[in-house]
Amino acid sequence: MEPATTSGKPIITVGQHIQEAQRAYPTATGDFSWMLGGITLATKIIESNVRNAGIRDVLGGTGTSNVQGELVQKLDQIANDTIVRCLGYRENVGLMVSEEDDEPIVAKDVGEKGKYIVLFDPLDGSSNIDVNVSIGTIFSIMQRRSDTPKTDKPLAECLQPGMNQVAAGYVVYGSSTVMAYTTGNGVHMFTLDPSFGAFVLTRENVKMPVAGKMYSVNEAYRGTFPQGYQRYLEWAKTKDAGNYSLRYIGSLVADFHRTLLRGGVFLYPPTAKAPNGKLRLLYEANPLAFLAEQAGGAASDGKQSILKKTPDSLHQRTPLILGSIEEVERVLSFLD
Ligand code: AHG
Ligand code: MN
Ligand code: MN
Repeated sequence: MEPATTSGKPIITVGQHIQEAQRAYPTATGDFSWMLGGITLATKIIESNVRNAGIRDVLGGTGTSNVQGELVQKLDQIANDTIVRCLGYRENVGLMVSEEDDEPIVAKDVGEKGKYIVLFDPLDGSSNIDVNVSIGTIFSIMQRRSDTPKTDKPLAECLQPGMNQVAAGYVVYGSSTVMAYTTGNGVHMFTLDPSFGAFVLTRENVKMPVAGKMYSVNEAYRGTFPQGYQRYLEWAKTKDAGNYSLRYIGSLVADFHRTLLRGGVFLYPPTAKAPNGKLRLLYEANPLAFLAEQAGGAASDGKQSILKKTPDSLHQRTPLILGSIEEVERVLSFLD
């Protein structure tokens, strides 16, 4: 395939694409694309650290743990600092919520200026960093709600259901670096061309296959899944299910990217170790659920749509069934 820069196709960067998408909204003031520009800048810096991890001293742990009780890897910290530094000074970003920070970061005082909340998992799949397996960054964007009482504790403003998202996306640092985003008008993908450092449009209006004989789950914990999930996994191995295969990378963003393109279903059920599931609602499940639904897929916690859940706390965890609409419905049909 010819490189994007020489084939006859137009070269559209993610910035141009977002601005064109903005023009569709008469009320859009362009501040949205300016803010998303902060995210693409941050992910290019993170990508450079990921690609040079073995050369720069960025592998291994920091020796500290985060609010999740997980050991923070050096690249987690670098990714987190990079996003905060690239976004914090963009005048329309009011609050930032990170997997790595206990409380929301107040970038701007309350008021018109800081009208957006950016929620993110700066580096997803940390256990894969040191073994050179795909990892990623996940982000979700909401607007501050003027109706929440103005308090010095901005936490309440962040506890909104996922259906309130105005945009969501991820970057997967894989064999190539791909960004996917949605503003509610379809899912669009861009590949980073390192020769000139821009994300170039490579797929527009991505649609997830409605079915796919692939399930993605850490079966090591199968013995402690609720019975319904165990019944589904038994069924998937039977002849009449028709030879499902298992793919599990251990980086949610990479497992989701494959599911978005190939179809199938990703599962992280409740386990004995994580009775409410392991994945976080605000900056892992919500953004990927928004993308999945925009691509014609589905996302459930086993009882309701992920996007309908109103969070009680910032780092709340949720069970997650995410993928092709027929596969998600099939899993749900096995649950009590
Ligand atoms: P993070 O690195 O941001 O903490 O996320 C890791 C998550 C997710 O990426 C992946 O799907 C899941 O942890 C894997 O969990 P197990 O190792 O328990 O399978
Ligand atoms: Mn994660
Ligand atoms: Mn993470």
